[in-house]
Amino acid sequence: MASWTAERGVFLVALALATACGGKSEDSGSAASSSDTAASGDTCETQPWSWQNTGEPFMRTWCTQCHHRDLPAEQRQGAPAEVNLETYTDFQAWSERIEARVWTDTAPMPPAGGPTEEELEILAEWMDCGAPE
Ligand code: HEC
Repeated sequence: MASWTAERGVFLVALALATACGGKSEDSGSAASSSDTAASGDTCETQPWSWQNTGEPFMRTWCTQCHHRDLPAEQRQGAPAEVNLETYTDFQAWSERIEARVWTDTAPMPPAGGPTEEELEILAEWMDCGAPE
């Protein structure tokens, strides 16, 4: 009986650890955790990324051929009329959805893929640091 209790204790600890790990790995690959090092305040103060040198070029390269308010409807390739990503204000309005759709295997944006690991890493570092303008 004593050993049953001990085993059960071990099982519960293992379960707790598995749950904790599961929670952590769930968001790995998202902007929020894909670069743990960038999350520290120090790193953010020295990171060189900005909307101008990172966010804007990324959106221009990978997103605004569908998500730009100057595009006639027939050239948006189905992108919703309200989802435009060419300005910093646009980015801020959509940042949560951008994070959800860029770092996912389910219906990712851009639909055909394309951004390199490095581009995604830099975008994630910038976003982790609060996406400074
Ligand atoms: C080839 C055209 C095309 C490109 C390029 C493209 N999108 Fe989209 N986007 C769409 C279409 C079509 C939809 C609507 C259907 C859907 O949500 O999958 C959409 C919807 C969205 C939405 C709103 C839906 C939601 O989940 O909130 C966001 C945000 C978005 N795209 C972000 C992006 C980002 C960020 C990029 C660049 C990294 C990008 N898109 C590149 C076509 C595109």
